[in-house]
Amino acid sequence: MAPVRAVIPDDFELPVDAFDIPLCYQGDLSGVVIPEGLVRDRVRRLAKDIHAEIGNKPIALLCVLKGSYKFFTALVEELTNARSACTEPMTVDFIRVKSYEDQSSTGQIQIMGLSNLDELKGKSVLVVDDISDTGRTLAKLLTTLKETGVEKTWTALLLSKRVKRHVDVPEDFVAFEIPDKFIVGYGLDYNQKFRDLGHICVMSPAGIEKYKNH
Ligand code: HPA
Ligand code: MG
Repeated sequence: MAPVRAVIPDDFELPVDAFDIPLCYQGDLSGVVIPEGLVRDRVRRLAKDIHAEIGNKPIALLCVLKGSYKFFTALVEELTNARSACTEPMTVDFIRVKSYEDQSSTGQIQIMGLSNLDELKGKSVLVVDDISDTGRTLAKLLTTLKETGVEKTWTALLLSKRVKRHVDVPEDFVAFEIPDKFIVGYGLDYNQKFRDLGHICVMSPAGIEKYKNH
């Protein structure tokens, strides 16, 4: 049976003032969609689901920076607990993926950070990413890994947005399915801000204006 996703309904938002929000971000947010504590609870179960599926194999966890840095850390911690009886080790690697899209929307992704992708050759790799919406970036990353000679890939996503997919990409382990809203926090940014915010939030019009790139 496929692992169960936690589905956040379209209208679900908690009042920002019911949470502890850093002073610098006050006024920039209009609702809390997923509190940090709920993320942690969900990641614990996700790690158990991942372990149940993958079992006692050597596995390489690949963190797709920057957005998944918090999710990755939490997942590694919970997977370490879930794998306490494993005899095969888990390794960690980090890449940065930048996507460029021209006007005719032929996406190009640039993979940076891992000095040698060949290090992953022949390995079973769990790709850990923050969010899937169009699916383009993740699809290209998976293709690149396959071309590199990675033996098997799975994907673990913090968030999967309810939007039409441009490409079909496997979403093996998803923590939350969320509505089609622009969200920030728990690693996700708006022009590089809000990655440090613990809760996953919707921005206010004032916040969008304040941090707009002019
Ligand atoms: N927020 C931040 N980054 C993103 C999002 C989002 O909603 N969707 C894709 N990248
Ligand atoms: Mg971003």
